This record gives sequence, structure tokens and C-alpha cells, in this order.
Amino acid sequence: MRAARSARLPGLFVELNAGRKRPMFRQLYDSIRRAVLEGRLHAGAALPPSRGLAAELGVSRNTVTLAYDQLAAEGYLQGQPRSGVRVATTLPTRPFTKAQPPSPARGRRTPRVSTRGSAISSLLEVGWPPPVGSPRPFRPGVPALDLFPMRLWSRLVNRRLRQPPAMGYGDAAGYQPLREAIADYVGAARGTRCSAEQIIVVNGSQQGLDLAARILLDPGDEVWMEDPGYPGARAALLAAGARIVPVPVDGEGMRVEDGERTAGSARLAYVSPSHQFPVGVTMSASRRLELLRWAGQSGAWILEDDYDSEFRYRTRPLASFQGMDQDGRVVYIGTFSKTLAPALRLGYLIVPEEVAPVFRVARAASDRHSPVLEQAVLADFLAEGHFARHVRRMRGVYAERQDALVGAVKSLLGGVMEIGPTGAGMHLTAWLERGADDGAVSAQLAAAGVEAPPISRYALVRPSRGGLLLGWAAYSPEAIRTSVERMARALR
Ligand SMILES: Cc1ncc(COP(=O)(O)O)c(C=O)c1O
Repeated sequence: MRAARSARLPGLFVELNAGRKRPMFRQLYDSIRRAVLEGRLHAGAALPPSRGLAAELGVSRNTVTLAYDQLAAEGYLQGQPRSGVRVATTLPTRPFTKAQPPSPARGRRTPRVSTRGSAISSLLEVGWPPPVGSPRPFRPGVPALDLFPMRLWSRLVNRRLRQPPAMGYGDAAGYQPLREAIADYVGAARGTRCSAEQIIVVNGSQQGLDLAARILLDPGDEVWMEDPGYPGARAALLAAGARIVPVPVDGEGMRVEDGERTAGSARLAYVSPSHQFPVGVTMSASRRLELLRWAGQSGAWILEDDYDSEFRYRTRPLASFQGMDQDGRVVYIGTFSKTLAPALRLGYLIVPEEVAPVFRVARAASDRHSPVLEQAVLADFLAEGHFARHVRRMRGVYAERQDALVGAVKSLLGGVMEIGPTGAGMHLTAWLERGADDGAVSAQLAAAGVEAPPISRYALVRPSRGGLLLGWAAYSPEAIRTSVERMARALR
């Protein structure tokens, strides 16, 4: 059998190859369709009768009729394969043909971006956003994805598909039953004081940070940022045109006094008080009061990022800023990325009553609202007690995984690293000897297949001591031990 058959007709060159995966009738369909779209076969042009074309191509007549039928069904041809087929006089809306990506423009000037655009591009240097895809030890910030309650979740999804929520536009502030379930949950778990009307459901903390920064700040406003601190927050603040004022962090959290000294009239302070990112300290009660006093007196905002507060291992959590706030100066940010999974992209803000309408309309102006079906499933998950059970279970698993990490580091790397606070969260800081270059150590570990971002990556002012961030939540105790062994070999 000949592999290739061809026919040359006016405006149409057809070559069919029996060796290709694509069926012959599809190859013929492609050739004719291309000729029509490129104008080589113009409107009204006659195509050869199916029998003649089949003979010329050496294929069965059925191959030609199938191609003609398909093209007629899509509106490219009209008439009957046996009685005469023509190119349709009105063609279907022309789809885009797959274009080649433009080749990297040589000599083309980099397009000018705004001042904010160039400020935010500085985050590329710190590797933010962090790597995506399957995590490997010890990438921080990832929960135990292997223990996500997938069977239960899919049961709830299926139930919701049978009894769906209204599928028109939803409330920009979020699906009401979810807002109510969140208000109940954070009130009990974090001591917040709010009604469901103050909850704005967002696509993860990141959108909450972005909304808050745009609504609360004017370009050029000064903002206190924990140093070292969370690059995601820095990104959102820079994108809103804020001037970042680094405020050092010590064993009690942000040094409020330093902030007041350098930028007393700043408009906002960003803090992660339950488990400071990245250092891991918990902000002391006296620092919290200091910060609240400053915000109350100066009329500044406090942006409280409570990203992994559900995970405390030995001590009771301190109540949230939001619950202590008397002056309506706190915007609280919570996320389901750590308690459930980052891919859900669901989180929430608790905003003071007076600004809730502005947040709602700003959310609508940005992307209307989060997907309603997912919100409804999450509302069920919370209201039926599954969330509380899952978090309780994860707390046990994470304590075990943390023990595995701490034990392995102490026994294999005891002389090289000193472990920071371990009372909370999903990652810890392993401090290196004074003077050690944490960037170089991190690069050495990366070459050995271990991810351990250096603390200096998150710092605006060079830290006095280098360290590594080690996440443990996503990895089994065995994987943790193997990876610590690998670290020890690499650093020997
Ligand atoms: C400090 C901090 N805040 C918030 C988040 C969560 O971000 P999102 O809710 O956008 O997934 C993270 C994740 O790593 C984080 O480290």
C-alpha cells in the first residue's frame, strides 16, 4: 500500500499519508478547510464529486464523504457529496489559527512599565512567587496534600452538583452561608469579633492583601513591613504604590518602637503575629498592645495576616488583633491554603463594618466574586464539622512531622544549625553559625536536591544572622529523615 497519496485540484493540493496517526478523512478535511480559510478555494467554488476525488486519491469513497459531511456540518461546504458540493457562500466565523509564538524580539526595547511595575519586579530577585507543582522537602508553605480529604470533598461536590446553589452572579462579598460559617469559626478559633457582614470571601490571602492595599493606601504612603517578612505582602503593597519601611523583628515580633522612630506617620503596618513569616516568633501581648496604641493614635491600619494560626503545638494561641481592636483599625486576613489546600484559592478578610461596602464594591470591580460552587462546598465542609475535624487531625500529623524534623536536625546537623521557635506553624527557621552565607548554603542544598530557602531572601536589611526555612507539613517522617541525611551529606 502506498503511504502517501496526493491530488492536485485548482486551489487545492491534497496529500494524505496512511502512516500518520490522524485518520485519512481528517487529513482530507484539514486540507480542504485550510484551503477555504486561506481563500484558495473561494466562496461558491465547486469541489470534485466524491467518487472522482476518491479515485484520484486512491482512497475509499467513504473517506471523501466523511470529510465533506464534516465540513458541511461546520458550515464550510454546502450541497450533497453525490450531487455536487460547493464552498459555502457564508463561512462560519473564522476561528483563530494556531499562531507560532513570536520569536524573542531582537533589538526591541523592553516595554516601559509603571513605577509600581518596576518596584514590584524587584520581587523576581527573591524568587517570588515561589516554585509551583509537587513540593519536595523542605519547601515551606505547603500543607499535607496527601492527606487532603479528597473522598469526602468529592462527596460534598457531588451533592452540591445535584442541589446546586444559584448559578447566576453571586454576592461580591461571598456566598452568604460561607460568610456565616467563617464568622462562627474564626470567632471560636481566633477570638475575632465580627458579624458575617464583615467577612469578604477572597481567592486566598493574596487577593485579600491586594484589595486591602489598594483600598487603604494612596501611592507613596509609608507602610511598616516586618523585616524579614512575607514577599507576597510586599508584592501587594508595592503594587499599590506603597513605600515600604522595613521594621526589624526580634523574639517578640515586630519592634514597634523602631517603626515609630523611623516612620511614625505610616498609614499601615503589615504583621503576621501568630507565627511571624519567616522567623516563626509569636508577637508578644505587650507588642500587640503597643501596635494597637500606635494605630489608634495615628489613625493607621493594621493588616493582620493569620495565615497558619490553626497550628499551635504546645501553647494556647493568643487572641487575634482583630478581637482586641476597639478603634476599627484592623483588617484580618485568613486563608484555607494552609488548613486545606492552596489550589482551592479561598480565603477571607474581616474588615471593619464601615469599610465593608467599599471592599465589596472593589471586589466586584476586580473579578466580581469567587466561584460559587466551591464556596458552597466549603460552607458545607465548615458547617458540618468536617473542617474542625480535619484541622484537629492535621495538628497531630504536623506535630509528628515536626518532631521528625527537629530530631533529625538535632542529631545530624546539631553543630551546624540551631533550631528557631517550634511552637506553631508549618515551617521552622534553622539558624546557621554567625557569619555563614545562608544564600550559598541554600544553593549548595538545592544542588543536592533539598529546598531550603535562605532567610536573607526575605530580608530588606541584611540580617545579622543567616538561616534556612524548613517546611515540614507536606512531607512524611521518612522523607524528612532522608532529606536531613542528604543535607548533612551535602554540608559535610
Ligand atoms: C505569610 C503568608 N501569608 C499568607 C500565605 C497564604 O497565601 P494564599 O492564601 O494566597 O495562598 C502564605 C503562604 O505561604 C504566607 O506564607
